[in-house]
Amino acid sequence: MIPVYEPLMDGNEKKYLAECIDTGWVSSDGPFVKRLEDEFAAYCGVKHGIAVSNGTAALEVGLAAIGVGQDDEVIMPSFTVVSCAIAAIRLGATPVLVDSEPDTWNMDTSRIEAKINYRTRAIMPVHIYGHPVDMDPVLDIARRHNLKVIEDAAEVHGAMYKNRKAGSIGNVGSFSFNANNIITTGEGGMVITDDPAAAERARSYRDLFSIPEHRFYHNELGYNFRMTNLQAAIGVAQLEQIDRFIEIKRRNAALYTARLSKVKGIKTPTEKPWAWSVYWMYAIELDPKLGIDATRMAQLLAQKGVATGPFFLGMHEQPVFQRMDLFQNEKYPVADRLARQGFYLPSGLTLTESQINEVCDAVEGVIKSL
Ligand SMILES: Cc1ncc(COP(=O)(O)O)c(C=O)c1O
Repeated sequence: MIPVYEPLMDGNEKKYLAECIDTGWVSSDGPFVKRLEDEFAAYCGVKHGIAVSNGTAALEVGLAAIGVGQDDEVIMPSFTVVSCAIAAIRLGATPVLVDSEPDTWNMDTSRIEAKINYRTRAIMPVHIYGHPVDMDPVLDIARRHNLKVIEDAAEVHGAMYKNRKAGSIGNVGSFSFNANNIITTGEGGMVITDDPAAAERARSYRDLFSIPEHRFYHNELGYNFRMTNLQAAIGVAQLEQIDRFIEIKRRNAALYTARLSKVKGIKTPTEKPWAWSVYWMYAIELDPKLGIDATRMAQLLAQKGVATGPFFLGMHEQPVFQRMDLFQNEKYPVADRLARQGFYLPSGLTLTESQINEVCDAVEGVIKSL
């Protein structure tokens, strides 16, 4: 089976991990945590990085850092991971949804303004599958309505929007370092910001709201969302290789597109003129006219030895939120179609050109047989 994802750890990962073990610095107090925070923030072109335990925690910490709380509303795409909505709900806020663009699969920014009311506190653009959101309209709306912007950049380490790194453009940016992300710490995440007050609040929220003068004195309810030195050691080694990893992603995407863009009924990923995508996952959408959905396609490809990943199910279709009476009778047709017709192909950093050809042969074979 060609796996859907495999990380690449052929740099200093083992050496830095051994350093943690040899020195005994294994918890969040170790030096690699600060190093990863500083180096990742610098890579993104911002001043502050706050390392956390995963990307879901990063979203919650990021929202708390910009002051989102009880009874606020946060505007986000329906087509995203559940972590975005959960992060808002855990803080007492309500997620408010917009549909996606049919070409980039990102939040349709022309639909944001209609969802703003007196409770709206923040907009959460989510950069999907490696391609940045069109950020200028988001920033313009936020400025005119006095809203904060939190970018979910979990899937786009290093992607560029008009020469700015995704995640560095809004008030705060949030990242995941799960094993299937461009750089990984196993599990892990990061909040980045240029705003010193937001950075300070993020650090406190991550660390039980302990005050700097007294570790066991707490003014607010926080969490232990700290990253360990072991995780950060892997992260520092991974960050040393990020340019190479993105090069691999872009090369693999070009190989896939060269073949699959010729196949009738398959929509390959877009790259807008203002965007530099990192193709986190090589995602494709099946034309409903082919008469096959992504679930069936995944089964047929699995029979040919090709693993795939499903697209997100829109937030408005999630049973957990329906039970909470959220998003009742709301319609997001693009998100609905993507959930049924979209999926991603093997996109690991260890993928070879001949494996990509095998995957394309399998996709073409299934489509010819229809
Ligand atoms: C867009 C997006 N945001 C946030 C997350 C959550 O990250 P984590 O799995 O590290 O909690 C993910 C993970 O799938 C994601 O794809």
